[in-house]
Amino acid sequence: MAARIIDGKASAARVTSRVAAAVSALQGAHGIVPGLAVVLVGDDPASGVYVRSKGRRSVEAGMRSFEHRLPATASQVELLGLVARLNAAPEVNGILVQMPLPRGLDPAAVIEAIDPAKDVDGFHPINVGRLASGADALVPCTPQGCMILLEEALGSLAGREALVIGRSGIVGKPMAQLLLKADCTVTIAHSRTRDLPGTCRRAEIVVAAVGKPEFVRGGWIAPGAAVIDVGINRLPTPDGKGRLVGDVAFAEAAAVAGAITPVPGGVGPMTIACLLRNTVIAACRQRQVRLPDGL
Ligand code: GUN
Repeated sequence: MAARIIDGKASAARVTSRVAAAVSALQGAHGIVPGLAVVLVGDDPASGVYVRSKGRRSVEAGMRSFEHRLPATASQVELLGLVARLNAAPEVNGILVQMPLPRGLDPAAVIEAIDPAKDVDGFHPINVGRLASGADALVPCTPQGCMILLEEALGSLAGREALVIGRSGIVGKPMAQLLLKADCTVTIAHSRTRDLPGTCRRAEIVVAAVGKPEFVRGGWIAPGAAVIDVGINRLPTPDGKGRLVGDVAFAEAAAVAGAITPVPGGVGPMTIACLLRNTVIAACRQRQVRLPDGL
């Protein structure tokens, strides 16, 4: 059996077009134009590419984009001062401080300084706690994107055996919370899990977020399972360009799975789409207006 390939690019385009429609409806009904502020500290080229892309995509969806750059030498006090100004700015509904931060800056303190109502990354402990307690939270973008892909592929997830491989605060743990909220039976596996292949073979849904290239083998996958690969790893190639692979050995897994995300073109495109979506959700909650239908 060959797995159905889950097209993350197409799904992200659908999310983005729903966001654009919601932005247009909010502007028409309430004069609200959601605004996203992205802060980049230092000159890491990859982070620069991400930040520009977040700004461009916000504007394409009809939102305001505010880009703030600080030098790598910026102090914690300067960065916290900028966050405080963005917290107080009414035209800014979402704040994202691009990670990783240069050495010497404390990411946890910066995340905690962001107004939880504007924390569109969903990293603030208040949002982490709200998600865990089942309250309305801003949900981290990558796991939210995985949920959209899974629900589009499978419909209701209720009662399914789900395995999350990886326990990071930005993917593994919130992913497990979202699957639990969707009534899955959830296992979280990590580096100390005994018999990971056997645990994986029991899962109807596998979400791999370990950051190790092609770590999950085809022989670990139950026939017909849905496989969501969050990993993006660059393997060296003779031409020096490198090749992107996920955390799952794609060809092996695709031969047994029922549905699988490719890398690239699977989970990756969903992250920015969900960031835009979170910015609209944040704007609606801040202005106490109902979320436009269909978002
Ligand atoms: N760096 C890479 N991905 C992300 C993300 O989703 N949010 C933030 N804040 N930094 C990142």
